[in-house]
Amino acid sequence: MASCPKKQRMSADSCLETFISWCETNGFNLNRKVSVKAAAARSEDGVTPWSENVVAELGMMAIEDLDKGEELFRIPRKLLIHPKTSHISKTIEINKDKLKGESGWVPLLITLMFEYTFSESSWRSYLDLCVDHHVYNLPMFWSFEQLGQLKGTGINEEVNRDLENIATEFNTIVLPFLKEHSTMFNTDVHTFELYKKMVAFVMSYSFTEPPDDVDRPPTPPMMVPMADILNHVSKHNACLEFDQDCLRMVTTCKINAGEEVYNTYGELSNSQLLHMYGFAEKPSDNVFDVVEFTSDDLFDQAKLMKEVKIELLDEKMLLLGKEETFVVGNEGILTEDEINLNLKVLFMPADEFKNYKRNNGWMSDDDEDINFDFDHLKQLPNLWKILLASVAKECLARYHNIQNEDAEFQNNKICCVYVGYVKEGQIKLLQSLLNSLNIGI
Ligand SMILES: C[S@@+](CC[C@H](N)C(=O)[O-])C[C@H]1O[C@@H](n2cnc3c(N)ncnc32)[C@H](O)[C@@H]1O
Repeated sequence: MASCPKKQRMSADSCLETFISWCETNGFNLNRKVSVKAAAARSEDGVTPWSENVVAELGMMAIEDLDKGEELFRIPRKLLIHPKTSHISKTIEINKDKLKGESGWVPLLITLMFEYTFSESSWRSYLDLCVDHHVYNLPMFWSFEQLGQLKGTGINEEVNRDLENIATEFNTIVLPFLKEHSTMFNTDVHTFELYKKMVAFVMSYSFTEPPDDVDRPPTPPMMVPMADILNHVSKHNACLEFDQDCLRMVTTCKINAGEEVYNTYGELSNSQLLHMYGFAEKPSDNVFDVVEFTSDDLFDQAKLMKEVKIELLDEKMLLLGKEETFVVGNEGILTEDEINLNLKVLFMPADEFKNYKRNNGWMSDDDEDINFDFDHLKQLPNLWKILLASVAKECLARYHNIQNEDAEFQNNKICCVYVGYVKEGQIKLLQSLLNSLNIGI
């Protein structure tokens, strides 16, 4: 039976050394112009690292100038962690139908629970170095009061959904599997807490290989040692390439000695970064930042419109459905087709709406010129602008004031600063929306 490994009481530096020598003996071809660093200390605000340090506990620095297109390291495919490379791959394969869950993560999570607690794991040095970093910073481990700080951002709703799904998958799929395989698993060691920790590890450290065909469903996540040491910024300078035998981290532009090497975790807004990775960028740095509002927000304000009583509103709302999320980015409303359709239908005269319903939602395509960039919003019909402005105002009113909250949370300055970045970015975008509508409210 597997038991919890006797955690070596190694310092962060010796864990890192052991991991680097494991990489060296396993063909990672680490470029001599870069070095993996462990941040030693942080400045007063808890966020800005000392200048020679990486932005989070671990990261990669250029120690010599690098050109665009240089390979920084490679990871042989056999050293990726996923259910097929693990010691328990056969058991996972035989049970693969029983392990299907909505998230698609269960086989990897069980694999990681096993490898993490298996002293002879091939990935011992990697798991010892990485698993305990940061995972508890993720909002899924925050207290109820701390989550309250995220009011208005949409993150707390996501976290609550995650927690429900995690518990459901654990109780209905994972626990029966662990009990059935008691020669490999021990439910006193392989607990729900450990499972949740592995979820956080996968959420903030895993990679997903792009499918060869865009119509294919996304591939399940996997762990990519060394690639996940790199931190993220939206204006990144390296990225991971997926080759047949190995994965390669390659620079995407010139990097000067002394600069940190940043990967990209995707085109992620600050709320996605905080939700999945426990940090956020300064709003001015995150070119992918967005704020969202929903059909419910739109319909609630449509019901309250004083300027006009919208005809057949209930029927229109029913037809449009409540599932839509509208996305506002740095340039304007990004979900143009969706907002156009919703506004058009909401303000349709009754007879036109009846025709529209009769035609099963078909509409002549005369909207080519409608543009939802901030620069063009003032040209929208007046009632559309009034409705959008009410939505923006209502969303703005939802943000909790972070200043006078819970002292414990204030002490946790890193989280507090990141929550501030998320809110500041979202508020700025809502204000840009409101200002561009230019209707003087
Ligand atoms: C894939 S890991 C990167 C390695 C990590 N720095 C470590 O020490 O193990 C992702 C985690 O790194 C941290 N991170 C990544 N990019 C960051 C950034 N730009 N600022 C602050 N923290 C960052 C976050 O805690 C995130 O959950």
